[in-house]
Amino acid sequence: MPTDLVPSADEIAVHWREEPRIDPPTDFSRQAQVRDRSLQEALDPSHGPEAFRAYADLLTWDRPYDRVLDASQPPFYRWFPGGQLNASVNAIDRHLPDAADRIAYHFVPEDESAPVEHVSYAELSRRVNRLARLLQDRFALVAGDRVTLYLPMVPELPVAMLACARLGVIHSVVFSGFSGKAAGDRIVDSNSRLLITMDGYSRGGQWVDLKAKADQAVVDCRSRNHRLEGLLVFERTPHHYRSESPIRTPGEFILTDLLEGISQDFCKPVSRESNDGLFIMYSSGTTGRPKGCFHGTGGYLSWVAATTRYVLDLKPQDIYWCMADIGWITGHSYIVYGPLVLGATSVLYEGLPHWPDAARPWRISEHLGVTILHTSPTAIRALRRLDPDLPQRYATAFRLLCTVGEPIEPETWHWYHETVGHRRAVIVDTYWQTETGGHLLATLPGLDAMKPGSAGPPLPGITAAIYDETGRKLPPGSGRAGLLGIEHPWPGLMLGIWNDPDRFRKTYFDPLQKGAGSDRWIYCTHDAATWSADGYFRILGRTDDVINVAGHRLGSKEMESAALSVAGVAEAAVVPYPDPVKGAVPLLFISAQAIVSHANDLVPAVAQAVVEAIGPIARPHAVILVSDLPKTRSGKIMRRILRAVARGEEAGDVTTLANPESVSQVRDAVGKSLAAHPTPTSDERS
Ligand code: WTA
Repeated sequence: MPTDLVPSADEIAVHWREEPRIDPPTDFSRQAQVRDRSLQEALDPSHGPEAFRAYADLLTWDRPYDRVLDASQPPFYRWFPGGQLNASVNAIDRHLPDAADRIAYHFVPEDESAPVEHVSYAELSRRVNRLARLLQDRFALVAGDRVTLYLPMVPELPVAMLACARLGVIHSVVFSGFSGKAAGDRIVDSNSRLLITMDGYSRGGQWVDLKAKADQAVVDCRSRNHRLEGLLVFERTPHHYRSESPIRTPGEFILTDLLEGISQDFCKPVSRESNDGLFIMYSSGTTGRPKGCFHGTGGYLSWVAATTRYVLDLKPQDIYWCMADIGWITGHSYIVYGPLVLGATSVLYEGLPHWPDAARPWRISEHLGVTILHTSPTAIRALRRLDPDLPQRYATAFRLLCTVGEPIEPETWHWYHETVGHRRAVIVDTYWQTETGGHLLATLPGLDAMKPGSAGPPLPGITAAIYDETGRKLPPGSGRAGLLGIEHPWPGLMLGIWNDPDRFRKTYFDPLQKGAGSDRWIYCTHDAATWSADGYFRILGRTDDVINVAGHRLGSKEMESAALSVAGVAEAAVVPYPDPVKGAVPLLFISAQAIVSHANDLVPAVAQAVVEAIGPIARPHAVILVSDLPKTRSGKIMRRILRAVARGEEAGDVTTLANPESVSQVRDAVGKSLAAHPTPTSDERS
């Protein structure tokens, strides 16, 4: 356990203090979908997992499950074994008899002069079935195959996910802001047969040529002996191909043309066992390579349906807008699967929230009557900075405001509550991870008091606690920080890591095995947290090599290996640096090999290498060249010291270093470099 990254009591005190609790508005509580504690009581772990039947009952099954939970091979838990279902039937078909005309997505293009597209459940069904038919008939895809989707925030993305799900094909969505090379890595790791992309899309008023980036992914695959059977390209505007990169035959296809050749609007759904895979979502972790978080069907869908209903309080009459990107887990669970399984209406927005100006979200919300808004602290901070009074000028009707992805500091929380929510809306801070499928900690919005800065108590069915470095549980109210762990399995937890079962156990279950004496299976989140006497948790941040930039998870090891790929770089280390908007930005320290004569030239080359390997989102705030990085005698780079020095804090005990003199050099270099990079960039993709 990397104990040097669990904050000490002094460090915690630097964070915000305990805030008073605020009760949810009574108007909200009166209409909330959870109005009493019966769900929570039924799901108390002392009763075993049986009550999760209520979650499975939110779904439509082709064949009933035999048991609620098979826990015979921990930590590989299997939920609702024997049950069969199809995810696309749950997201679409079952709503058609009564709600075919209900809007599934109001698609808002970034270009404000372009009309909003209203995609009904019937229309969604038509598009999904036709694409599924094409994938089945023309490309012979079968259940269990993998397909990579490299698509922006347009209806074609949920359509492609659901077309895969209809066939039992496992989708792997790569965030469209990632580089082609990052997409290539994920295609190879998942052994995808096809890549589906788009010619391009609009972001901050600029045309992003996505097909050109997809070409890079294809080249990358080829160089690693992975042959894609096809590259399928949607056109952002049908019949109007806009990429600079031509369609190359054989193997590359424009989807508009292929889909026109499909005559049927129906493709028979393939029934899947509850624990068959639904998707892979790559996420950064403790080692260099991103890992494929592999989610199943029945458990995952039941968890996202239940949390969408109970935590987001989503109802069919709501207009719900989640501003996350579907290329991250929040979009999978809370733009696609959760809302669609409940038959809800969502807004899908293509572009930057503050494009062309900071009032855009409030115009969209007013115009479409958005009742539930879901976004990240980074977006809230950015909008507040641009114009703190703006939301008040719009007649918005929010009843619930959700935040996710990073800790929200009380100041930002209060602005969200007062200015965006007019004090009428309830605020829900949801804490969870790619691996967990859906929310773990959050207040039940109609019942629990809100506490700014705290994600809240564990949800019904979740047993959370914090642990010290020996693996001992710390009691609530101890005032100490510990590693956050979850004691019992829950249906949303991923099946495992794609192609790497050992890594699943090692990464998530070994760290808290320590000190137990016997087998115990506690899921380790790798986040540090405090646990207040009232049972609320406050998340302090990651204790591993993950850096949370604008609510997006980046692996410092991935950035370091990109830096080391530049000829002449001897060492590289990344640390998070506090940022007023994004929470944190990466600072990249490098040292040059002795033979390098123009070491300063390495700085731009390293920044470029990181952007090419991962994407503009990982662009270092600064690349800082030093002659030597602080190291232990065994040669381990001391990131803790780099982090402290970068923040202008004391370096702590440096006597054990092999090169204590490096610390003052680092301090000088940081001073110079940060003076030259005072403000952060505004968009992670630009
Ligand atoms: C962080 C995103 C504080 C945390 C859903 C976690 C949060 C990582 C919160 C997972 C929150 C997420 N408060 N921190 N409400 N939500 N985090 O996998 O460090 O992209 O481990 O999933 O984001 O990021 P991921």
